[in-house]
Parts: sequence; structure tokens; C-alpha cells
Amino acid sequence: MRAHTAVIPAAGMGTRFLPATKAVPKELLPIIDTPALQLIIDEAAGAGIDHVVVVTSHAKPAIEAYFAESPEVVAKLRSTGRNEVADHLERIGRDMRITFAYQDVAMGLGHAVGCAREAVGDEPFAVLLPDEIMGDSSLLAQMCDVSAATGGSVVGLKQVPRDEVSAYGVIDPAGPLDADGVVSVRTMVEKPPVAEAPSELIIIGRYVLTPDVFDKIERVQPGAGGEIQLTDALRMQAENGPFHGVLSGIRRYDTGNPLGWLTAVVELALDDERIGSQFRTWLHDLL
Ligand code: UTP
Repeated sequence: MRAHTAVIPAAGMGTRFLPATKAVPKELLPIIDTPALQLIIDEAAGAGIDHVVVVTSHAKPAIEAYFAESPEVVAKLRSTGRNEVADHLERIGRDMRITFAYQDVAMGLGHAVGCAREAVGDEPFAVLLPDEIMGDSSLLAQMCDVSAATGGSVVGLKQVPRDEVSAYGVIDPAGPLDADGVVSVRTMVEKPPVAEAPSELIIIGRYVLTPDVFDKIERVQPGAGGEIQLTDALRMQAENGPFHGVLSGIRRYDTGNPLGWLTAVVELALDDERIGSQFRTWLHDLL
């Protein structure tokens, strides 16, 4: 079965982006004029997903507010002839099914995914971390296909220089990558010392998981800071059945910290058809 539901964990505290995230959830910070969360939903839609479960917290009401209808704004836009913007606003949260699950204490990514169990049901599902923005939907679409074909979970991979592996989850490949960038995964380690890293392939914020992961999450012992790590549950899966990684060369931005966010906004603004050429001229003059 191919995944048609995606879980987007958005209940974290965004401490690397304080003080902005005191009032504005990190997932709603704009990439030009669009919340990062919307870009992630668009990526999921492009990969064939038709149901998104946003894991949020009651301390972040702005996340749900983003999906609420805004009749006054729409009426104002229509009365001044801005129908295209009004249509766009009306489509938010209507062009795919959106449900909410709650994680009121940020107990880690594994715990956040576990909070979506009821909304997902007993079927494979995607997980997209909203502070990583991808250039397009191709990686997620390929991962959904690989999971449907193998019946196992699949993680997105990126190759990094060996001296950078210690900041990430690293896979231990069971063999070479095939022509499509797919590799069987034996196991994985979280933040290994460089000398002990089993490869230079790190796990990025895209997953397609089989539903047995929910039982595994319940068995994970809390680690540092009481957090339930998703990687611990994935390791149990990899050691007990088919588990693959997909390496892709598409553009990827880490928008979870101020420098990464700014880099993404500048690069994407340079490519933007509405403001790109004006922005390029200004940036060129500035430099
Ligand atoms: P991050 O670790 O990047 O987000 O988790 P964070 O914890 O909010 O950020 P910092 O480190 O304090 O700056 C990746 C995604 O997982 C969600 C976050 O909201 C973010 O979108 N997350 C993380 C949860 O939903 N619950 C958690 O317990 C942890």
C-alpha cells in the first residue's frame, strides 16, 4: 500500500529561533510570503499525499489559526477586485484533508510522531519535518514508491563530508546504492564520533514509515532530556525487517535556525518570478 497520509510534527519550542518563536511558531515563519508549513504541505501534495496530520501544541494556537477560514479578509479582497488572492486564501486547508493531533509537552520527535497514531491508523505514512524545505516533491514521491514496493520503512538520505557526520543520524548500509539512489539499511547510529561513523549518509527530515513503528516508539526509553528519539524506534525496525534509504540530490534548506532560514529565503527569492530580478539587482549593488 502507498502512503497517503503525512505527519508534520510542529509542537516543538523552536528555541534556536527565540525570541521570534515566543509568539510565532517556527513552522509559520515566512519563506518570502508563504509559511514554511505550507511549503511542506505543498511538497506532500506533489508526492500524492491527500491527508496531513499536523502535530501541534495548545501553546501554539497560531498553527490552527492559519487553517481557519478568514471571511472578512476574503470579503475585503473581493470588494477591491483582488480575487486571485482571495481564491488562494480560500484554498488553504481545503485542497487536502488536514487534521490536528496534540503534543502538549515537547518530549521529542519520536513522541510527537506517536501522538499522531490515532489520526494515521494502521497504514504506512510519511513524516516531514517542517524545518527542512526541499526543492520539489520528487524525493518524497520516490520514497513512497520504495516503501510500497518493499513493504518496509524508508528514510531520506544526504551525503555529507565525513567530518560533519557527528551532528546527525547516520545509516549503516547493507550494500551499495542502486542506480536510483536506493540502499538497504542494516542499522543506524545517532551522532557517532567521526571514527565510528558507519557511512557518510545522514538521515534527513523525510521518512515513510510502516505503522508498526508506533509500537516501537512505545518501547523506546527516554534519552537525554527525557526525549523519545525517533531514531531509536527506526533502529528497531531496521534490525527486524526491510528498511531502505533513498539518496537524492535535490536542493534542501535547513530553516530551523536563523542562518539557515535566511539562506533559504535569499536563494528562493533570487529564483522567485515576482521579485527575483529586482532582488538580484539590489543584492548585486549591495555587495
Ligand atoms: P527540532 O528539534 O528542529 O525543533 O524538531 P524544535 O525542538 O522546535 O527546535 P529547537 O531545537 O528548540 O530550536 C524538528 C521538528 O519536530 C517538531 C518541531 O516542532 C520541529 O518542527 N518537534 C520536535 C515536535 O513536534 N515535538 C518535539 O517534542 C520535538
